[in-house]
Amino acid sequence: MKYFIGSDHAGINIKDYVKELFEKAGHEVEDLGPFSNDRVDYPDFAAKVCKEVLANDGTKGILICGTGLGMSMSANKFDGIRAALCHNSYSAAMAREHNDANVLCLGERVSGYGTIESIVDAWNTHEFAGGRHANRVQKINNLMGSCRV
Ligand code: RB5
Repeated sequence: MKYFIGSDHAGINIKDYVKELFEKAGHEVEDLGPFSNDRVDYPDFAAKVCKEVLANDGTKGILICGTGLGMSMSANKFDGIRAALCHNSYSAAMAREHNDANVLCLGERVSGYGTIESIVDAWNTHEFAGGRHANRVQKINNLMGSCRV
C-alpha cells in the first residue's frame, strides 16, 4: 500500500523513523514535508496529505504533530478522511478493525519511540472487519456534514 506522510515542526523528528517502520512493513511512503525544522502550521500539511489520499484510491496517510490533536482535527474536516489519533497500540488496532481509519495521527511529544513502534505494528497488522462496523462507518458519511478545505 502507498502512504503519504506529513508533519509539522513538532513532529518532524520522528517522521523519518515512522516512514522507515512503514517501509519495513512493506509499504511505499511518500514524504510531503516539511523538510526543515522551521516552524510551520499543521493544517497546511494535513491538507497536503489528505488531498493526496483522497485523490489516489487505495492510499492512506500518516500525520504527526506535537500532540497529534491539531493534525487529527484538521484531517477529519475532509469528507472521506477518517483520521485516528493513536497513543497506544490498542487504539491503532481498533482504528483499523472497527473504524476503517485511513489516516494515522501521532503525537511526537506524547509517544516515545517504543510506543510508536507498537502503534505502527498494530495499525499494519489489523484489517477492517466490515460487517456491523461497515454500517457504522457508512453512517459517518451519511449523518455528518462535510467541510472541504
Ligand atoms: C506546535 O507547537 C503544536 O501546537 C502542534 O504541533 C500540535 O501539537 C497541535 O495540535
